[in-house]
Amino acid sequence: MTDPAYVYPDYRSTQLRGPKKPLVILPHTLSELTGPVFGEDAVSEGDADLTQGHAGEPLGERIIVSGRLLGPGGKPIRGALIEVWQANAAGRYRHRNDVHPAPLDPNFSGAGRTLTDDDGHYRFVSVKPGAYPWQNHPNAWRPAHIHFSVFGRAFTQRLVTQMYFPGDPLFPADPIFNSIRDPKVRERMVSTFDWETTTPEWALGYRFDIVLGGPAATPLET
Ligand SMILES: [Fe+2]
Repeated sequence: MTDPAYVYPDYRSTQLRGPKKPLVILPHTLSELTGPVFGEDAVSEGDADLTQGHAGEPLGERIIVSGRLLGPGGKPIRGALIEVWQANAAGRYRHRNDVHPAPLDPNFSGAGRTLTDDDGHYRFVSVKPGAYPWQNHPNAWRPAHIHFSVFGRAFTQRLVTQMYFPGDPLFPADPIFNSIRDPKVRERMVSTFDWETTTPEWALGYRFDIVLGGPAATPLET
C-alpha cells in the first residue's frame, strides 16, 4: 500500500486523531466535481518565489524546486494549484505554535503557490528549510522538508504530502517518514539533486515529480 496507516503509534498525534473505525465513503456530488475551483488570475507569477515580497532576501541556501504533476498513467496534469509551506533556513515556522529557540527571518514567510503549465511543470524558488525539533519523542527532529498540497480538478481532490532532501541523516529516526512502510514508496517523497536546474552563482536545483494515483503514486502524509 502506498499511503501510511491513519494510526501509526510512533507518530504520537496519530493515536489521537487517526480514525479507528472504517471510513464512510461519501459520493461526490456533481457540483463538487464540476464547480469552479479558483480563478487563474488569483495566482500571480511572484507567488512561486518565496524569496521575494519582503524588504530584503531571506538567509539560507537558495534553492529551485521543480518537477511535474502527473496522473496515474504518467499523463501531465495542467492548471493544477500547487501550494507549499516550509520552515525557514533555521528550522523555524512563522506560526504562533512554533516557539522553539531558532530565529524568525523577517524576509521569509515560508508559503508559496503556483499553477502547473501545459506539461504539468511547476517551479518554486526558495531557501532550503532547516531541520526542527518537534517533541514527539526524546530528541525528536524532523528531517528538512517542504509541505506540498495539490488540488486536482476539484476542491475534493487534494493530495497533501512532504518533499524531503536526498541523503538526510535524520530519515531513519523520523516516524512520519517511516510511517510509509515500503522503502521504495518512501523514496518517492525524496527529491533528487538536479544539475539541470542548478544555476551558477545563484541556486541549487532539486527535482520532485508528484504522481496522483496509480502504482507509482506519491504517498500522502499521515
Ligand atoms: Fe513541517
